[in-house]
Amino acid sequence: MAANFKYSILNFKYQIRMKFFIDTANLSQIEEANQLGILDGVTTNPSLMAKEGIQGEEAIAQHYKTICEIVNGDISAEVLSTDFKTIVEEGKKLAAIHPNIVVKVPMIKEGVKAIKWFTDNGIRTNCTLVFSAGQAILAAKAGAAYVSPFIGRIDDSGWDGVQLIEQIARIYSIQGFKTEILAASIRTPNHITLCAEAGADVCTCPLESILGLLKHPLTDLGLAKFLEDAKKMNKVVEDV
Ligand code: E4P
Repeated sequence: MAANFKYSILNFKYQIRMKFFIDTANLSQIEEANQLGILDGVTTNPSLMAKEGIQGEEAIAQHYKTICEIVNGDISAEVLSTDFKTIVEEGKKLAAIHPNIVVKVPMIKEGVKAIKWFTDNGIRTNCTLVFSAGQAILAAKAGAAYVSPFIGRIDDSGWDGVQLIEQIARIYSIQGFKTEILAASIRTPNHITLCAEAGADVCTCPLESILGLLKHPLTDLGLAKFLEDAKKMNKVVEDV
């Protein structure tokens, strides 16, 4: 009985490990993050796509296809329209690009209607531009696969983004919502740690925040000393 309990706790912990997405449309950054071996997906948005100079329906579709070929995980592709009918048309085309495409839809009235339509028709969505727990409840009710609270932008406006992640995590757990909390608008490596602690299911981060997790001055000092001492070991080996 006790062993079973321990096993189920371990299993539970294993299942809820936090996913890492990269928040960019830049192919070389996506490649670099993917090579680390810890990447679970990619998020993009119209600003990130425009930054890479991607223009026109064909080029947009091709870019998403290329990203899907690099990363084996969920790839969020955002709709550009804001009315129900066009969001649905656009979302259907995006979802047809690759099975890993998740249609990213803004938290607006027409967007919520569209998310419900996509849910009912087997298309997974990421509800974006979420800034309150109320919006996160609506996204979950509509059946979004992911909800994206923008924690950096909340911090920028003088509120506490990580606190919002905690609140949504509490609500989803009490209510049994299956929607995954995708902490977005990450600005620092510490945001990632805090979001993990707050119960985020996913963090989508710029490459520099992911790489920032590697850094600690004591690691650098420790490694320098080990490498120095390793030279002495080689010398001993040579002397023998
Ligand atoms: C989320 O999916 C968005 O693309 C992104 O995290 C927004 O981040 P920003 O506030 O740095 O633009």
